[in-house]
Amino acid sequence: MAGDHGPKAGDHGPRAGDHGPTPGDSRAAAARILRENDRGGFNVPTPGLYPFQWLWDSGFTALGWAELDEPRAWQELETVFLGQWPDGMLPHIVFHRPDPGYFPGPDVWGTSHDPPTSGITQPHVFGTIVRRLLETARDRELAGRQARGLFPRILAAHRWIHRHRDPHDTGLVAVVHPWEGGEDNSPLWDGALARVPIENLAPYTRRDTGHVDASQRPTSHEYDRYLSLVARFRALGYEPDAVYQTSPFRVATAGFNSILQRSDRDLMWLASSLGEPTAEIEAWIERGRTGLGSLWDERAGAYRSRDLVTGEAIEVMTSSSFLPLFAGVPDGEQAGRLAARIREWGERVRYLVPSTDPQSAAFEPRRYWRGPVWSVVNWMIAIGLEEYGFHELASRVRHDTLALIEQAGFAEYFEPNTGEGLGGGSFSWTAAILLNLSPPA
Ligand code: GLC
Repeated sequence: MAGDHGPKAGDHGPRAGDHGPTPGDSRAAAARILRENDRGGFNVPTPGLYPFQWLWDSGFTALGWAELDEPRAWQELETVFLGQWPDGMLPHIVFHRPDPGYFPGPDVWGTSHDPPTSGITQPHVFGTIVRRLLETARDRELAGRQARGLFPRILAAHRWIHRHRDPHDTGLVAVVHPWEGGEDNSPLWDGALARVPIENLAPYTRRDTGHVDASQRPTSHEYDRYLSLVARFRALGYEPDAVYQTSPFRVATAGFNSILQRSDRDLMWLASSLGEPTAEIEAWIERGRTGLGSLWDERAGAYRSRDLVTGEAIEVMTSSSFLPLFAGVPDGEQAGRLAARIREWGERVRYLVPSTDPQSAAFEPRRYWRGPVWSVVNWMIAIGLEEYGFHELASRVRHDTLALIEQAGFAEYFEPNTGEGLGGGSFSWTAAILLNLSPPA
C-alpha cells in the first residue's frame, strides 16, 4: 500500500476494521517507507516532491525511527541540526545535496551556510521530540548522551526564536512567511498575504505542480507572494531583526506558538534532568502562556491567531487552533469548549481533524492546508485531548488517523470525507505517525 493513494474522489471507502491490512502489515509498510526515504542519515519527506530534509518533518520522522532503530532516530536529529546557523536559527530546509527537481532550491535562497539551507524557519518541535525519545529509550545510555549533546543546540534555537521573533517580549512569536508556520497555504494567511507586494520576482517555474495535481496545491497568486517574501529576506541578508521589522507579513498563530510553548516546557524538563539552569526557559514559558492566553476569544470559545501588522484577530479557525491543548494552556472550561468544537467539526466531516473549519467559506477539502487532514497535527491534538481528560475524543482522532492511513496509504494529507490520500505519497511523517500510534503486532 506504500504510495498507493487508495480510493478515488467520491468513493466512500470502508472504515478501518471493515477489512484491509492488519496493524502488523501497516507497521511493516511504514518501516519500508522510512527506509526507502532514507538518503543516508536523513529522510526526505517524500521522493520527488520534497527531496531534501525538512525541519519539523525530521522531528516526527525521528519518532518513527525510534520504533525501529534508535541510533537512526538520533541521527535524524543530528543531521537536521547540521543546518543550524551560528546565531541559533534552524532553517526549514537543509539541502544536503543538490536536486534539480525542487523549486525554490539553494540558488534562490542564496544563504551562506554549509550545507546550504533555506533562510526561514519552521515549527520548533525538538524539545518535545528529544524528551519523548529519552523517555521511551531502550538504549538509555545512548539517549542520555544524545540528549545532552542536543540540549545546547535546541536551547540556542529557542533563544533565537524568542529573541528575534518576539523582540518586545509580548509572549507571542511571529512567523514572517507562511512556510514558517508549517501550514503553507492555510486560510490563516490569506489577509496578511494579500498585502504582500509582488516585487523582485524573477520569472520562475514551479516544480510542485509537476509532482501533484495543481488542484491540491497552493495557487499561483500565493506562490508569487511566497517568492516575493523570499527575495525580500534575501536582499536583507536574512539579518533577523531587519527581517522582523520590515516584513510586510508578520503573523502570530495559535499553532506555532503552542508547539513552541510545549517544546519550551519539554526543554525545561530536559534542563532540569540534565542539571542545567532553567531561569531563562521558565521566563519564556511564563511569557508564552500569557501570549497564548491573549489569543483566546471568549465569545467564540476559541483561540484566534493574530495578524501582527494590523493587530487584528484572524477570523478563520484551523486545526492548529486546537494546539493550545497540546501546549497545556487552556483552563478546564476553555478546554471543554475546544473539545466541543472538535466534536462539532466531527459531525460535518467523516474524519477528524480537517485542517480548516468545515463551516468556513475557505474550506476546500482537497487543497493542502485548506481542508485535508494531516496526521502530524492529529497526533498533537490527540495528545492534548488526552492530557485534558477527553479520552474518547482523543481516541477518535487517533482512530481516524490510523483508518485514513490504513485505507488510503501513507499520503501527505487526506480528504476529510472520502478519506482519499492526496498530495505526495510514501510520506515519511505519515509513516512515522502510524508507527507511533499503532502497537507492535
Ligand atoms: C509542506 C508542508 C510543510 C512540510 C513540508 C515537507 O511544505 O506544508 O509543513 O514541512 O511540506 O513535508
